[in-house]
Amino acid sequence: MIHKKLVNFPENFLWGAASAAYQVEGAWDEDGKGPSNWDAYVRIPGTTFKGTNGDVAVDHYHRYKEDVALMAQMGLKAYRFSIAWTRIYPEGSGEVNEAGLKFYDDLINELIKNNVEPIITLYHWDLPQALQEAYGGWESRKIIEDFSNYCVTLFKRFGDRVKYWVSLNEQNIFIMHGYLSGAHPPKVMDCKRMYQANHIASLANAKVIQYFRKVVPNGKIGPSFAYSPAYASSSKPEDVLAYENAEELNSFWWMDVYAWGEYPKAVWNYLEREGLAPTIEDGDRELLKAGIPDFMGVNYYRTTTYEINSLAGVGAGQMNTTGKKGSTPDTGIPGLFKTIRNPNLEATDWDWEIDPIGLRIALRRITCRYRLPILISENGLGAFDTLEEGDVVNDDYRIEFIRRHLEECKKAITDGVDLLGYCVWSFTDLLSWLNGYQKRYGFVYVNRDEESEKDMRRIKKQSYYWYKKVIETNGKEL
Ligand code: BG6
Repeated sequence: MIHKKLVNFPENFLWGAASAAYQVEGAWDEDGKGPSNWDAYVRIPGTTFKGTNGDVAVDHYHRYKEDVALMAQMGLKAYRFSIAWTRIYPEGSGEVNEAGLKFYDDLINELIKNNVEPIITLYHWDLPQALQEAYGGWESRKIIEDFSNYCVTLFKRFGDRVKYWVSLNEQNIFIMHGYLSGAHPPKVMDCKRMYQANHIASLANAKVIQYFRKVVPNGKIGPSFAYSPAYASSSKPEDVLAYENAEELNSFWWMDVYAWGEYPKAVWNYLEREGLAPTIEDGDRELLKAGIPDFMGVNYYRTTTYEINSLAGVGAGQMNTTGKKGSTPDTGIPGLFKTIRNPNLEATDWDWEIDPIGLRIALRRITCRYRLPILISENGLGAFDTLEEGDVVNDDYRIEFIRRHLEECKKAITDGVDLLGYCVWSFTDLLSWLNGYQKRYGFVYVNRDEESEKDMRRIKKQSYYWYKKVIETNGKEL
């Protein structure tokens, strides 16, 4: 649709930015915090870029007041952050750690004092290591009770001040990397176990939404899904079918469960024939249907293009974690699809295709299929930034990236998408899980790198000033 006139962003639009505990906080063993699966994983040689870890990260735990002051100066309307489960329950369950609750209490109060709406993510990948060791984490149904207990503690403590909550961050990513590619903890490579752990995570997600309705009746909750809309590489029907396969297996498999409590049919049948479908127990279907979210959180970075893949075709491959452009191989599932570079799109140094229109397509597909409001819980550009003399960071490429994506948001709103807000990933620079500190996303440069923590001073990039203006004009000036 080419609109003659665009509708403006709504008045109460959540102009936000986002982060995750492990990637910013540091203080990995302070004030009673227990070890998480990531604390353990990064200590295995060869797992992360140059052996980087989040022990100190960007020291947000000690510098949160300075970071919130920078948000306030920018006029940021919303800050999405995650809570480290291991600060609240160091062992995952049992005794609650008051010092952990206090840290987030203070952070939330500081945000509210500065007119920044807090958006809490309940789980952004840092599972208590104690639960991984006790019963295999997401592979055991015991986690449903422990996760619910942890979440209810947060609902009771913060539900009076926090309206927006994200349940699981990118279930598709932490499950697929954790149990299929083995690139995340617990470093398993087993498709059957992956689908089973995923089913249990979906049950846990539904269960906490059920509790949320009771404890925070006026709040809003939804998962954040890493949505990379699928394209067909050509109009050849075989390629279009490959795209259908990819969309159903990589996206609807999760989003249908969130929105409808049901798995998509063709992929279910395929997995069942392959002996990979999860075991559904009595009551599971009812629970999934009882845990429908208020909104779909979308983390959007890119689209992916697919073509037909024969039964003898390509399988899994490694990710680009070095920033060496062009080093990502094509991957696929024999008989279903394989990825192919889209010749119409530029890509980042980590080979993520840059596709602003893809964001509009993502928002449109979700609206069309699920009719849910949408929160863009992440969107941003990972790039090498240069700190110039006089503490200047000229990240005009980032401004261009965000501006083009926001233009598409405006068109999507005009299309009829109910868009609650837009959180840029990220507010300050932070640790990119597998890619070290050189892949920067922030509006605020943090002076550290892989080799040294330096002084970690905060420096406003050009994009900081630009986004400030966008917020001031409520998106009229992009
Ligand atoms: C999302 C995650 O996958 O994308 C973030 O929710 C992550 O935690 C972000 O940092 C960017 O990914 P990466 O691999 O470039 O850090």
